[in-house]
Amino acid sequence: MGIPTIRSSRARVRASSLSTLRLIQRNSTASGSHVNNGVSSNRNIASDLPEKLPPLSPDARKFLSRLIRVDQAGELGADLIYAGQHFVFKRSIPSIAPLIKHMWDQEIHHHKTFDDLQNKHRIRPSLFSPVWKVAALGLGAGTAMMGKEAAMACTVAVETVIGEHYNNQLRVLVQILENEMRTSKNGQDSEELRALANTVRQFRDDELEHLDTAVENDAEKARPYMLLTETIKNGCRAAVWLAERF
Ligand SMILES: [Fe+2]
Ligand SMILES: [Fe+2]
Repeated sequence: MGIPTIRSSRARVRASSLSTLRLIQRNSTASGSHVNNGVSSNRNIASDLPEKLPPLSPDARKFLSRLIRVDQAGELGADLIYAGQHFVFKRSIPSIAPLIKHMWDQEIHHHKTFDDLQNKHRIRPSLFSPVWKVAALGLGAGTAMMGKEAAMACTVAVETVIGEHYNNQLRVLVQILENEMRTSKNGQDSEELRALANTVRQFRDDELEHLDTAVENDAEKARPYMLLTETIKNGCRAAVWLAERF
């Protein structure tokens, strides 16, 4: 039961990635960039776009504010989930602690990056930030106390939702870049947009790596796997919805 579910989760995120890659490939081809295959275009999501890009429209700027707010909240949550897991595993299963620490370090970097972007653009944090902190720490520590498999199942659920979320953002970012490019001369703001697209792409790849790591470390052996992962996924989707708006 578990294995097909995990594979379908990964397949869906991967399929979603492919749709983004095709869109990026079309944009790159239209702008005269040379693209060998989908992977190479994904690796150069922003650098394949033309050099001169316009300032942002109000709608694009609104999208960016929402993106930075929700991603900062998400990475704050991821940071604390792994912090909670690491706190428990350091005592209960020390052999797994370094693996958790590796993923935690990446989340700390993600979190700090979006903290910096939030400060730089003066975007207010999610009003629910205190709730995200408590919930994430509790989720991380709670699943770790259930055992290694449950903690890995938690990672599968969280990273599946976040991988999909980042892919959706990448699609919109590429379209905004394309639209803005048609209508303006000054590229200063859009340079930032390109850098942001690169950041989102890089973090999406990190999250998918975490997803693969969790699958390789017995996530599917967690019981009750379906109940656990579907509950966590629904919680993450609700958190994303709220953090984008409040
Ligand atoms: Fe992350
Ligand atoms: Fe992650």
